[in-house]
Amino acid sequence: MLADNRSVLPDRLTLHRLALGGDTNAFAEDVARGLTAQPKVMPPKYFYDELGSRLFEAICFLPEYYLTRAESEILRQHADAIVAAIAAPTRLVELGSGSAEKTRFLIEALLRRQSTLHYLPVDISDASLERSSLELLHLYSNLRITAYAADYFTALHALREAKSSERTIALFLGSNLGNFKTDEALNFLRAVRQVLKVEDGLLLGVDLKKPAALLVPAYDDALGVTAAFNRNLLVRINRELRADFQLEKFLHRAVYNEALGRIEAHLVSVETQRVRINALDLEIPFAAGESIHTENSYKFDLPQLAALASATGFALQTSWFDTEQRYSFNLFTAA
Ligand code: AVJ
Repeated sequence: MLADNRSVLPDRLTLHRLALGGDTNAFAEDVARGLTAQPKVMPPKYFYDELGSRLFEAICFLPEYYLTRAESEILRQHADAIVAAIAAPTRLVELGSGSAEKTRFLIEALLRRQSTLHYLPVDISDASLERSSLELLHLYSNLRITAYAADYFTALHALREAKSSERTIALFLGSNLGNFKTDEALNFLRAVRQVLKVEDGLLLGVDLKKPAALLVPAYDDALGVTAAFNRNLLVRINRELRADFQLEKFLHRAVYNEALGRIEAHLVSVETQRVRINALDLEIPFAAGESIHTENSYKFDLPQLAALASATGFALQTSWFDTEQRYSFNLFTAA
């Protein structure tokens, strides 16, 4: 099926497979480092194997996970105004494109004012990237895609060599910035700035600070999909590194750390136990109640965003909000 599609549409799609999440060595090293650290920790990029990417897409349909719907609402309402803030013609770079569903609002707005569009998505999951690219090419005959299956920094490095005479709009949607600590967010934004020219734009969708009672259910849903998304990391370690995590002995926990303005996700060991990771020849001891810290999801306010912009070579030009003011969509202009 994919092979057929590909043979019909080869000329409009270029897919670069760079250093990937599928890089077993990097995964092995990060698991060894993270699970022997004190406290235990894992980088969230390893959630996104094939199943993990699909579980995240399922999260976006959950009633509790308002982020996706709030962002879609903003894009549906304001796509033309957002696009009008950057001079035409523009190419569109997207960091962490995933299913690229929400991107369609911007692609359509851009194709209303220019006849063709070059879209350059980056995603850690090559399966998601290929699937979404083929779908977009099928939908939009005036679209050309250069896709990068890579982590952000590898892709941004490659994109620096792929400068264009057109303006660039870079997209970073879905509050993906929230996974970074402050210094990582600064490094990331500086790396994005380096692929842009003065007056190019970065569109940043980020979730806003709000009371814990509103935030926590979005990360601990009644159906247990977020728990499955988190625990799938253990399934991945079992499969790829021949480990023997017993899933029923690790529980998902989400807490709001108000002082740091972030949701923290953990996998909590229900009892004292030892886990063998055969490919690493490693045995990991867990105390009862000990956790692996698997994710941070930072929440933002506008002064914080303006400070991030000006520290990284941007200016916060405009912000748009959903009707309930839960979520923000921000234009950072390259200064
Ligand atoms: C994709 C990182 C934005 O932090 O809200 C969703 C990932 N984790 N539910 C987020 C996630 C648990 C999501 N980001």
